[in-house]
Amino acid sequence: MNDDINNKELIAKHVFFFEQVEERVLPLNTFLFEVDGFKVYLKKGEVFSKDKEEHLLNKGQKYLFILKDELRDYNFGVEKKLTKTLSNDNIPVEKRTEILRNASISMVEEVFNSMDVLKNRERINNLTENMVSFLTSNNSVLFNLLSLSSHDFYTYRHSVDVSIYNVMFAKFIGITNKKQLNIYAQAGLFHDLGKSKVSDKIINKKGPLDDDEWKIMKAHPKYSADILKEIYGLHQNIIDAALYHHEKIDGTGYPFGLSGDKIPFIGKLTAISDIFSALTTHRSYSKARTIYEALNFMTENLKGKVDKQLLKKFIQMFQNENENR
Ligand SMILES: [Fe+2]
Ligand SMILES: [Fe+2]
Repeated sequence: MNDDINNKELIAKHVFFFEQVEERVLPLNTFLFEVDGFKVYLKKGEVFSKDKEEHLLNKGQKYLFILKDELRDYNFGVEKKLTKTLSNDNIPVEKRTEILRNASISMVEEVFNSMDVLKNRERINNLTENMVSFLTSNNSVLFNLLSLSSHDFYTYRHSVDVSIYNVMFAKFIGITNKKQLNIYAQAGLFHDLGKSKVSDKIINKKGPLDDDEWKIMKAHPKYSADILKEIYGLHQNIIDAALYHHEKIDGTGYPFGLSGDKIPFIGKLTAISDIFSALTTHRSYSKARTIYEALNFMTENLKGKVDKQLLKKFIQMFQNENENR
């Protein structure tokens, strides 16, 4: 056991928030990172007292760590009480946003790796329902989201962020039906699912892609749709978001080169969330833009590329929220 604990590779980078420890009995073995390495802090079933928490906080420690092997159990635990956690007003909204985002990232990572949306259907629904409830009752999430720094793999985090922007955006333009918002959430989560079929070498390449690589990359909307089409009962909008989020109003997009109104609404909306997420996230080849820089960039560079009215609304959404802060 001690060897395991000293092996940092085995320690999940996922964090364990104090607030999530229900009745202060630890559901898993937890570890505390100290300068001289990892050491066992508390065992499963032990009580994590308020005193211990304060001691840790005083030392600047915000997290408990868990073993990677136990990550799945941990994620299930977090998801199971997500409804309760997200509606707990004692936890600051920023923290709840982070919990929601981390839970979503873990789930998306698992779905991308197993490619088994069907098996995870119930979990996905549970998670996006929680997401929609949380997002429709908290307005300050947008800015919180942008202040979160996370070191998870780009595609998983990006998928979750597009999902959140989709819900906020749909809500802003007047969609209030929770079932419908749920569709926008799942559309965001899985729009890039097909990237799991593109090799890491292409996905993470620092320089520009060559013609062959670009051809494969451009197939990811179709790959996504192929996987999603297999799922019985999945709403067509979720498939359409995957298929059409890289189409452009002037017909210069891919995979079909559709133009104007031939592009389904959910494709046009997801395209804007997608671009905004990419611009505001640090990538290996470009640094993250601020909200203001990203919106400016979009206004200047996306003329004729994305739906004009929708882009205007998207910008308004941030202005509105800024005024309400
Ligand atoms: Fe994409
Ligand atoms: Fe994307």
